Amino acid sequence: MTIPPRKWWKDAIIYQIYPASFKDSNGDGVGDLNGILSELDYIHSIGVNTIWICPMYDSPQVDMGYDIRDYEKVYPPYGTNEDMERLIGEIHKRGMRVVLDLVVNHTSDQHAWFRESRSSKDNPKRDWYIWRPARYVDGKRVPPNNWLGNFGGSVWQWDDLTQEYYLHLFCPEQPDLNWENSATRQAIYKSAMEFWLERGVDGFRVDTVNMYSKGDMSDAPITDPGSEWQFAGYQYCNGPRMAEFLREMNEVLERYDAMTVGECPHTPDMERVLQYVSAKAKQLNMVFQFDVVDIGHGPYKFQTTPKNYTLPSFKRAIASTQSLLRRAPDAWTTVFLENHDQARSISRFTSDAPQHRVAGGKLLSLMMCALSGTLFLYQGQELGMINFPERWDMSEYKDIDSTNYYKMVAERSNNDPEALAAAKKSLQHLARDHARVPMSWADAPFNGFSPPESTSTPWMRPLEDAATCNARQQAGDKDSVLGFWKKMLALRRAHNDLFVHGEFDDLDVESEELFVFTKTWRGEKALVMCNFTDKVVQMEVPDVSKRELLVSSLGRGDEENLEAWEGRVYLLA
Ligand code: GLC
Ligand code: CA
Repeated sequence: MTIPPRKWWKDAIIYQIYPASFKDSNGDGVGDLNGILSELDYIHSIGVNTIWICPMYDSPQVDMGYDIRDYEKVYPPYGTNEDMERLIGEIHKRGMRVVLDLVVNHTSDQHAWFRESRSSKDNPKRDWYIWRPARYVDGKRVPPNNWLGNFGGSVWQWDDLTQEYYLHLFCPEQPDLNWENSATRQAIYKSAMEFWLERGVDGFRVDTVNMYSKGDMSDAPITDPGSEWQFAGYQYCNGPRMAEFLREMNEVLERYDAMTVGECPHTPDMERVLQYVSAKAKQLNMVFQFDVVDIGHGPYKFQTTPKNYTLPSFKRAIASTQSLLRRAPDAWTTVFLENHDQARSISRFTSDAPQHRVAGGKLLSLMMCALSGTLFLYQGQELGMINFPERWDMSEYKDIDSTNYYKMVAERSNNDPEALAAAKKSLQHLARDHARVPMSWADAPFNGFSPPESTSTPWMRPLEDAATCNARQQAGDKDSVLGFWKKMLALRRAHNDLFVHGEFDDLDVESEELFVFTKTWRGEKALVMCNFTDKVVQMEVPDVSKRELLVSSLGRGDEENLEAWEGRVYLLA
């Protein structure tokens, strides 16, 4: 097989922005496009070269903009279409690229298409969404199947007006588009994709990309006997027409030479992933798989206790995503630990105790910068921001995923205090809310997120640790987490072939303390050693003729032990 020429997105370092929480320029407590514009030089200074902006489209915000009312219009509190065009221009001026979120598995129930679809059974857009008649069991009306939604409850919503159910894999306010209808697909390409490609965007992060083809919609097997609704992710993901839909979509993207990274939940089978990301398949450039970030989840995400995983399982998950490059030379992979759907990586994978958090942030930076694939960094991760504390009240959780779960536990347990305490503990560890608090810019009112004279408070409570963890302070401190990210990203670029494209080999999969791996590219080899404990660990460097310490995350020399949460990279010969 011939290896295709290198594309820019393989070597890209992508910084993800969550508009509501990045920077508020006008003091209404909500981040906005002009806020992003004002920090482009900061973003550029980190050493990233591409920006991914989460949905900034007009939306009723039931799921923070993943419920889109109008693809062709910016959400007014974020700004105007002119602001967006200026932002795209300014990003390009700095030599960076810009990627938007493409959310086309579903729309908002307020989208004009759905309003029409819902209005009558013979409306021309009726079939643009997925409508089904009720089933009746013992005379009782029940939904067409037993599928559990991604935010709890049934995936079906009864609509009184036309006496049918519609499908929504997420909230009821997010009806699923019917991809089986070719007119719907053409409308999606035109409104959601071409509209923004024409305005200069360089690609898309494609939301829930593997859910467009839903399969036969039969009942899911009973895995939670206590519930009416059953996990069906393996049924509604990766359905039979996925390849066809993505190839068709790719024809549009190719015309603009636009990149794609698809979000690919419920797909642990790497052979299935390869079908999406091998270049010859012409479907997606790369995907986000969930192997690593699902670590420690329970059967229903939050049904677990904090850090309920072992280091070997974490390493195996990373090895699995790294293995794509070896399986097919024309495939590509991604490296990420955080995004707007994940709690903070220091809190999940190292330690957010005050004496360890900086070391933990640097260790994860070192590990990520040595892994192959396109690297994604989420706002605040470069500062070592951590989860908000346990003492914060449930009212600080704003995300529908968190609040629905807490409600479900309350109902199911009849408000049992122990069950509720366990649910809150789990949310403190895993909730999406932790990534959505305002960015800590400065030791200033509202952590510098909103202007000091603002009268409205930020939409989510700012962290209390901004005095010791903020962007302005870290920008001038090379020993900070930000200082270390800058150093590591520069090293990644300096050794681009080895770190971005090299072959990954895990050396001690079963160790509960260390993550040791090598990267190999032609004659070059790097050894990466990461201490995932809060103790000193003796290390064994393989017998090689020459080793050169490239970097220690704690700035140590070539000693024979690793400090707590220390990582090192050696070049071997
Ligand atoms: C994706 C998004 C998430 C959203 C969901 C529904 O998983 O990343 O934030 O809730 O899709 O659109
Ligand atoms: Ca604002």
